[in-house]
Amino acid sequence: MKTIIANWKMNPVTELHARNLLEEVVRESKRLLSHVELVVAPPFLYLPGLAHEYRRDERIAFAAQDVFWEETGAYTGEISPLMVKSLPAEYAIIGHSERRAHLKETDTMIQKKVRAAHRAGLSVVLCVGEPTRKGKTAKAAKEYVRRQLIKDLAESNSLHDIASGIRDITVAYEPVWAIGTGRTDTPEDALEMTLFIKELLIAKLGFRGVRVLYGGSVNHENIESFLAHDEIDGALVGGASLRAEEFDKILAVAAAH
Ligand code: PGA
Repeated sequence: MKTIIANWKMNPVTELHARNLLEEVVRESKRLLSHVELVVAPPFLYLPGLAHEYRRDERIAFAAQDVFWEETGAYTGEISPLMVKSLPAEYAIIGHSERRAHLKETDTMIQKKVRAAHRAGLSVVLCVGEPTRKGKTAKAAKEYVRRQLIKDLAESNSLHDIASGIRDITVAYEPVWAIGTGRTDTPEDALEMTLFIKELLIAKLGFRGVRVLYGGSVNHENIESFLAHDEIDGALVGGASLRAEEFDKILAVAAAH
């Protein structure tokens, strides 16, 4: 089954709009939801309301768009993974490139967040991806992603350090230049990177079964070309997840796989 994550980012501006958006999506896609895993990542403010409203609906999972690395304490403005878990929500997206860029999140911070989310019992969606397309060679992009994975997952430079730790992890491969730009990666390159990530995690950690999603300007027209590859386990969808009709079409394609 493919996984589709709706990353609403800092949208919409009222809770009412958020409720209406999800209601519309679910109304249209009701029949499909046993054939695709739907994960919704609303802004923090809307998470409790939506998680409560859909608490009996096992077909919809919720994700936080971020979590802090401590469980409680004097950290003004931050949200603990334990709080997210208690909603209940199932997932935490960590290391999104927008947070790396605008909030200056470092790999060290991201690594602490991954561990804290894992300790709290959340499934982690770790976002990685090379920053520019210019001069992109498959080798350079892979090296960039390899370094990110190592820094975000391992305490030292050895991924073996966490072999006993983080198993419940999904990786979202999102080339930064493809996010919100309308320029997607080619399905072939996305597949090559997906295989690279899976092989790296198996070779270094013995992590089998890590799911890898593609993200970056996914829409209902291009999603098929990514999901047609068995190894690409789904998609992280930003802009297109804010338009119910468009998103329903994406879910329909995913459910057919
Ligand atoms: P996009 O965003 O679909 O709008 O490119 C994807 C993401 O940032 O997760």
